[in-house]
Amino acid sequence: MTEPGISRRSFLDRLLGLGVLAWLGSVIYPVVEYFKTPPQGEAEVTSVVATKIQSVKPNSGLVFRFGREPAILVSGPDGKLRAFSATCTHLQCTVQYRNDLQKIYCACHNGMYDLNGRNLAGPPPRPLTEFQVTVKGDDVVVSRT
Ligand code: FES
Repeated sequence: MTEPGISRRSFLDRLLGLGVLAWLGSVIYPVVEYFKTPPQGEAEVTSVVATKIQSVKPNSGLVFRFGREPAILVSGPDGKLRAFSATCTHLQCTVQYRNDLQKIYCACHNGMYDLNGRNLAGPPPRPLTEFQVTVKGDDVVVSRT
């Protein structure tokens, strides 16, 4: 004797099929998303105004945004301006200027760089990336070299 409509077996088959489809979707969707090309970020910035020249004092440092990265403008004790990527070459912490040491310092693991961006002490494996600094009118302009 068969009942009209859907049988128990047919119902369970469909339920199992839906479960398999849902499982496949949960596996395939993240894989597809992983391999999709990420949306384009902002275009690479090649030059920014870091600050106004009037606000730069000798033996000081200023961390500023250079596109998506932090950068640091350093005015040495002699007043000479230099700029570097502020991303430590060890584990990507942001460096800072220590006016008491007259060095660029990374507080994460006591990394130390000189005023030319060369790694002096601690774990940083290579120098900071240097940028070009020019003063145009009142603006301190930092550019990729
Ligand atoms: S991240 Fe800078 S010293 Fe480790």
